[in-house]
Amino acid sequence: MTSSEPSPHAARYPAGALAFPHRDLLGIGQLERHEILFLLDEAEQWVALNRQRSKHVDALAGLTIINAFFENSTRTLLSFEIAGKRLGADVVNMHAAQSSVKKGETLIDTAITLNAMRADAIVIRHGSSGATGLIADKVDCPVLNAGDGQHEHPTQALLDALALRHALRERGEAADDFTGQTIVICGDILHSRVARSNLLCLQALGASVRLCAPPALMPVGIEAMGAEVFHDFDAALDGADVVMMLRLQSERMSGQFIPSAREYHHLYGLTKIRLAKAKTDTLVMHPGPMNRGVEIDSDVADMIDRSIITRQVEMGVAIRMSCLDVLTRRARGVEGWGDAA
Ligand code: CP
Repeated sequence: MTSSEPSPHAARYPAGALAFPHRDLLGIGQLERHEILFLLDEAEQWVALNRQRSKHVDALAGLTIINAFFENSTRTLLSFEIAGKRLGADVVNMHAAQSSVKKGETLIDTAITLNAMRADAIVIRHGSSGATGLIADKVDCPVLNAGDGQHEHPTQALLDALALRHALRERGEAADDFTGQTIVICGDILHSRVARSNLLCLQALGASVRLCAPPALMPVGIEAMGAEVFHDFDAALDGADVVMMLRLQSERMSGQFIPSAREYHHLYGLTKIRLAKAKTDTLVMHPGPMNRGVEIDSDVADMIDRSIITRQVEMGVAIRMSCLDVLTRRARGVEGWGDAA
């Protein structure tokens, strides 16, 4: 299947551009359930392509994608770069540390500069919540949020959903959505854009989400978003189908939020003994980067029958191909996408 062919699930979303009527991808919070499903379903063709020896198509030939990363990244930057290249686009990476940002250029002026170079899509990671939305207001092309402060990391949540969908299907479970699944997200919820995007995405797809963290690392009032809040990890794991571990985001912490890494591991680290308190087939996820021995032990992270952490990385390329393909359809004049609102 190519991007111009109809999805096998075409009945579950509106036709053409109405299936995804957004210019930008700034957060899961802006998406309807059927729009999330559309991006996931569109990614399936790229999962298949990426498993072939020859992984290249020319769907985005002639387009220029700029990856502007103002924070460090391994997975997100590389997978957006690989995604753009596999779709045939010219991909340029702007590392803030080597850019004129270091000479005092503002975020807005940087955005205006990238726009003047006639980028066809801009992928942005920035340390400030809302920075990607600010840039989207200043440029003429689609903007994709690759993580903005503590706000959102939408492609992470989408790739996590795609990885989980594949893992459940391999077990013979119907996993079009996650109705009936209980998913624990444990770690530094307070500082985590991954937790926020995943909470929104997993709930939109029908899952029951439990958030677990020490009180100091749990946002006040998060229950209002529909999650069940736990401070006792063993209690949170009881009956869980999936556990997603998050690292301590020390780069966003001012002051001390935990007594010590050792004590944190004792109470909130995922060990084999602790995992045994969940179900016998509970799946283990982690968005990376991992701090082995702190939030997760190696013998859990590397469990071949339970951990889907490397699968998450694999799906990262496919989901970013899906997002780049869908968001550039209007500019490319793909049939049915040229007259979107
Ligand atoms: N999960 C994630 O965003 O990883 P990177 O920081 O390596 O991109």
